Amino acid sequence: MMPLTIVQLPLPDLTNFSYLVYCEESRKGIAVDPSFVPQVVLQAATELEVELLYLVNTHGHRDHIEGNRAVMTATGVQLAAHPADLPDADRQLADGDLIKIGNGSIEVLHTPGHSPGSIVLKTEDAVLTGDTLFVTRCGRADLPGSEVTQMYESLQRLKRLPAAMRVFPGHDYGPQPVSTIGQELEQNDYLRCPDLKSFIRLRMG
Ligand SMILES: [Fe+2]
Repeated sequence: MMPLTIVQLPLPDLTNFSYLVYCEESRKGIAVDPSFVPQVVLQAATELEVELLYLVNTHGHRDHIEGNRAVMTATGVQLAAHPADLPDADRQLADGDLIKIGNGSIEVLHTPGHSPGSIVLKTEDAVLTGDTLFVTRCGRADLPGSEVTQMYESLQRLKRLPAAMRVFPGHDYGPQPVSTIGQELEQNDYLRCPDLKSFIRLRMG
C-alpha cells in the first residue's frame, strides 16, 4: 500500500500553509486549513484530480479557517475538526479517530495547548502539526484559549513519534518549510527543554 501523498501549499503574502492529502490510487483526499486563500487548495485538488472527502482544520484560528465556507460551497465537502475549537463541525474529531482516505488513513492526535481544540494529523510517515509544532519553533501559548502546560504535554507526545516522521507545519516560520521529528529533536529549543519549568520560561518569557 502506498502512503498518502501530502502536497504543501504556500499561500501568497502569508506565512500559512494549506495542504492537500490524498491517496494516489483512489484519488480521494482531504483539504486542510484553507486560510484566507481557499482558491489555492481548490485549484490543487482540481489539477491533481482529487475528490475531497473532508475539509479538515488543525484548529479554529481565523488565519486557518477563513476560507472554509468557500471550499465547502465550491465542493459540497463536510468540515471535520475538534469541537473544542469548531463546535459546528459536521464531523467532530477526537483523539485516536481515523479519517479513512481511499486505501490509507489519518490518525487524529488531540494536542491542546495553542488552542483547546488543536489537532495533529498523522499519516503513516508524516504529521501535519498545525500551530502546535513549527520547524525550529512551536505555537504561541499566551493567546485566549492557550494553556502552556498542555502545550508542553502535547509536544512531549510529538517527541515520541518516529524520528524519520516528516513534519509539515501550519506556518512557514523556520529555516526550511518541512522537517522531521528527528531534526526537530536536534534543532528545536522548545522540544529540547528538559522540563516543564524551563519550557514555561522559554515559551512565556
Ligand atoms: Fe493558531
